[in-house]
Amino acid sequence: MSAHRQRVARHISEIEVSAIKQMAILSARLPDAASLTWGLPSFRTPAPIRRAVGRALEEDPDIGKYALPDGLPELRRLAAEDYRSVTGRAVDPDRNVLITAGNMQGVNAVLHAILDAGDRVVVTDPCFASHLQQIRLCGGEPVFWPLDEEAGWALDPETLPERIDARTKAVLLVTPSNPTGAIFTEAQVRRTAELARARGLLLIVDDPYRHFTYENRAASFNPGAIDGMEDDLAYLFTFSKAYAMSGWRLGYAILPEALKREVLKVHDATLICAPRISQAAGVAALSGDRAHLSQFQERLAKRRALICARLDRLPHVFSYVRPEGAYYVFPRILVPHETSHAFALSLLEETHVAVTPGEAFGPTGEEHVRMAYCVEEAVINAAFDRMERHFGAGP
Ligand SMILES: Cc1ncc(COP(=O)(O)O)c(C=O)c1O
Repeated sequence: MSAHRQRVARHISEIEVSAIKQMAILSARLPDAASLTWGLPSFRTPAPIRRAVGRALEEDPDIGKYALPDGLPELRRLAAEDYRSVTGRAVDPDRNVLITAGNMQGVNAVLHAILDAGDRVVVTDPCFASHLQQIRLCGGEPVFWPLDEEAGWALDPETLPERIDARTKAVLLVTPSNPTGAIFTEAQVRRTAELARARGLLLIVDDPYRHFTYENRAASFNPGAIDGMEDDLAYLFTFSKAYAMSGWRLGYAILPEALKREVLKVHDATLICAPRISQAAGVAALSGDRAHLSQFQERLAKRRALICARLDRLPHVFSYVRPEGAYYVFPRILVPHETSHAFALSLLEETHVAVTPGEAFGPTGEEHVRMAYCVEEAVINAAFDRMERHFGAGP
């Protein structure tokens, strides 16, 4: 065994950089790549936020300094208000709110705070690929809870209890979902919360996409609105998508008071605080007008219509469930192929179109690829023009 292999912890050497980023790295090497791989919105951070940060840089003598670990009081107050406006629940900015460097860091800190080696977390299958790495980084084990593709990637709460045992610590949900674009119904979310709480589990809700729903906006339900979940829910919102701030690395977590104290230890030991300049951007985002949101929604709705129309022209290559939210579609591959990974690699090699192999999102993801339609329409069109040339036009 090489010195390097001996030095690296086994649980680290056994995980990979997520397939999403691997495909993004490979496609970045091709100057003409049409990339549908990364959920990186094409939008620019809205002007009022950029201007407020410019002013803060000039006028705030503390802007370049650490903040206290749990975040600027003003931003925690605004986050509590934001959460109340969505869920109807009042939370205390001091006791319950933690400002994070985005949901990746926030979920990671929560998992580190609750998992001992060998502990389990129930994730939907398919789920967000990075959650699998995060659970494994803590020495934990994901337990896959398959979604029903035929029913529109629906969640069946009645199959949750059989996945829970003495080592299970939490259930992790994303709705609107990445990678399927499904929205879980209020009944499904309520029943999941009820079953999780009855077994003493923490319900972790990673919520980047609550603003991105389409004709069924009214069907979207926030688990934070459920009565009596205050001690059993960790809710995480990120500015990355709704405020086009993915590079700022900023989010907020709403946590039970006792859990916040534990998560804060992980947060402090890994990061000290979310970047203060990004927190200033967050203050501007939550206190300013949110006119950009309806523009983002409108543009994403157009892109969703476009990608569905283009998929409809390739019925011999992909079948798919029409996404209801977020900005992903998760088509099933109908043409002969070995694995979704091999399919994605050869598509990239032969057509310079980048998609993410479905296997990265869990066993149910095999036979699928994820396409992100948060990119410009020209990129969607280029990708599908090339795929039509490559696979031939539909019947
Ligand atoms: C479910 C989910 N969680 C977290 C993230 C990353 O969020 P952040 O940029 O806040 O770390 C994404 C981004 O694609 C996501 O889809």
